Amino acid sequence: MSLPTPSSSARAVVTGASSGIGEALAESLARRGHSLTLVARRQDRLRALADRLAAQYLVTVDVEACDLSDRAHREALLAKLAHVDVSILCLNAGFATYGGLAALDPAREREQVELNVTAVHDLTVALLPRLLERGSGAILITGSTAGNQPSPYNATYAATKAFANTLAESLHGELAGTGVTCTLLAPGPVRTEFAEVSHLGKVEEMLPAFAWVTAGEAAEAAVRSMASGRRRVVPGATAKLQNIGGQHAPRSILNPILRKVYGGMR
Ligand SMILES: NC(=O)c1ccc[n+]([C@@H]2O[C@H](COP(=O)([O-])OP(=O)(O)OC[C@H]3O[C@@H](n4cnc5c(N)ncnc54)[C@H](OP(=O)(O)O)[C@@H]3O)[C@@H](O)[C@H]2O)c1
Repeated sequence: MSLPTPSSSARAVVTGASSGIGEALAESLARRGHSLTLVARRQDRLRALADRLAAQYLVTVDVEACDLSDRAHREALLAKLAHVDVSILCLNAGFATYGGLAALDPAREREQVELNVTAVHDLTVALLPRLLERGSGAILITGSTAGNQPSPYNATYAATKAFANTLAESLHGELAGTGVTCTLLAPGPVRTEFAEVSHLGKVEEMLPAFAWVTAGEAAEAAVRSMASGRRRVVPGATAKLQNIGGQHAPRSILNPILRKVYGGMR
């Protein structure tokens, strides 16, 4: 099992490439010779990254500014991708909200579901038949350790990531023997803009430095795992512990503990 052979006409599509894990995924793939299509809303950031990666790794890098939480924007993106030979699809864009569900902004919660769930599903459903047709391809879906467990005060996010985790692992099984793979990236704490976007300032105080991995470490582990056709990659010791606890500890024990942890982060 390996990643599709890079070619000047094929593209690795990376969503959420304007910062954090997505930016690092783009770099890991460019380093291996893959030409890219970078997707996010902040076009200036994408353009700067595209120029740097193209110069450094001699690959072609296209930029598609798109609000993936907006159905019309997604359709416009898919119309453009209809003319592109997509060989790798990294569905990584996402954000979280923290707080009691009743107190959170309903519009922001809906946006979270659109981005973390519906956009991931729409792009997968639209592009999977073409990956299968070309007989060689790789999908990476960024879920989370949060998707393995109940997360009081982080309920919408945990539910969206449960969808992402299950979609990725189900497709991994479904695609066996097709030449197309699907890998779940289930990170724990990764130093990115995630905490700032999620208004999660206290997480920095709560977690010691050794608990974090860098975006580069998470992305490199993810790309290596895609290349070996793995089902799930969980980068770093903290994430590995969360991964085991979230999957195997009884809900009756996890819920009160996580209520305290996430309650303290707000
Ligand atoms: N960091 C962590 O601790 C952690 C842990 C577990 C899972 N994750 C997951 O990892 C993924 C990447 O997050 P990150 O940590 O790298 O955070 P980040 O630095 O905040 O990056 C998020 C990316 O998503 C893009 N994005 C957000 N809203 C978007 C929208 N409406 N349309 C298109 N793109 C959008 C952002 O770009 P624009 O703002 O330019 O649109 C940005 O490129 C997410 O799915 C997140 O849930 C992160």
